Amino acid sequence: MLASKVLRYTRVPSIGSLHNLSTSHSLMDAIRNVTVIGGGLMGSGIVQVAAQTGHKVTLVDMKDEFLSKSMANIEGSIKRVAKKKYKDDAGSADKFISDSLARVSMTTDTLSAVKDADLVIEAIVENLETKQKLFKAIDEVAPEGTIFASNTSSIPISRIAEPTGRKDRFGGLHFFNPVPVMKLLEVVSIRETSEQTTQRMMEFGAAMGKVTVRCKDTPGFVVNRLLVPTMMESVRMLERGDASARDIDTAMKLGASHPMGPFELADYVGLDTTKFIIDGWHQDYPDNPLFNPSPLLDKLVAEGKLGRKTGEGFYTYDKK
Ligand code: 3HC
Repeated sequence: MLASKVLRYTRVPSIGSLHNLSTSHSLMDAIRNVTVIGGGLMGSGIVQVAAQTGHKVTLVDMKDEFLSKSMANIEGSIKRVAKKKYKDDAGSADKFISDSLARVSMTTDTLSAVKDADLVIEAIVENLETKQKLFKAIDEVAPEGTIFASNTSSIPISRIAEPTGRKDRFGGLHFFNPVPVMKLLEVVSIRETSEQTTQRMMEFGAAMGKVTVRCKDTPGFVVNRLLVPTMMESVRMLERGDASARDIDTAMKLGASHPMGPFELADYVGLDTTKFIIDGWHQDYPDNPLFNPSPLLDKLVAEGKLGRKTGEGFYTYDKK
C-alpha cells in the first residue's frame, strides 16, 4: 500500500539564506536530496539513476496508482542494470537493488515533498501553463537554496521559470531515454541562471554518472535541435516516396552507425512527443522549414498510433 505521505525522509542541513549563497554555500555542497515530480518514463528513469548513485529521492505524482506503476518500472529497470553490472555476483546485485530502492520515497503531496529538497526536477506533462503553475506553487514552500530544474524537451526554460522568484536558481536538466542507459545530460542555463547553480547541476550530473554538456536555452538545446529535424526530414522522405521507412532506418544504422534508425527512434520516443516538439517550434518559428509539421505524422497521431507505447507507429509491435 502506498502512503500519501512522504516515506523514508532524510533531512539535510539547511543550505542557508539566499544572502549567504554566494559566500558560504560552496560548490562542495553536493546535492543529496532530490525530488522528481512526474513518474512517467523520464521521471522514473531519473529517480532510478539518482537512487542508484546514492541520492535520496522523492518521487511525486498525482495518484497512488501512477506511483505504483512508476515503482514497478523502476524495479524492472534496476534489475536489468544490476544484472549487467554484477554479472556473476547475485549477492551484490541484490544488495545494489535493495539499497537503491531503499533510497526512494513516494508521495502525492507535492508541497511537502519539496521542503527538504536540494534539487527539484520536473518531468510532468509538456504543457507550459501546467509547469508554470507547479513551479509557482513550489517556489513558495521550497527552501531558498533549492535549485529548480525542468526536464522539458522543447519548451523554453525561461518561460517555465517566469512565475518563480528564483530564476538564478533555475535551469534545465535534460535527460535522454532510456535514462539508465543514455550517458548524456544537457545542463541548460537561462540568462539569469547563476554560475553557481550551473556548476551544482553539472556536479549533480557527474554524480549521477552522466557526461554533462552546457547548453543555452535554445529550441531543442543541442541534441533535439539536431535529432528532431532529422526525424522530420526522414518522414518527409517517406512522404515523397524516396525510400521506405525500413530502408531509411537500415541506411542510418549501417551508414551512419546510429543505434536506431529515425523511424525506430520516433516510435521509441513517441510520435505524440515528436509532434508536440515540432508543432511548438513551428508555432514559434513559422519561417524555419526544418520545423514544418508533417501530414503523415499528424495522421498517425490522430489515429492514436503513437509508437511503441500503443503497439503501433511507423512499425507495429507485440503488445506486452
Ligand atoms: N533500463 C535498464 N537497462 C536498459 C534499458 C532500460 N530501460 N533499456 C536497455 N537497457 C540495457 C540493458 O542492459 C539491456 O540488456 P537486457 O535486455 O539484457 O536487460 C541492454 O541495454 C541492451 O538493450 P536491448 O537489448 O533492449 O537493445 P539495444 O542493445 O538495441 O539497446 C537502446 C537499446 C539502448 C535503446 C539502443 O537502441 C539505443 O541507444 N537507442 C537510441 C536511443 C536514443 O537515441 N535515445 C534518445 C532519444 S531522444 C530523447 O530521449 C530526448 C527526448 O527529449 C525526446
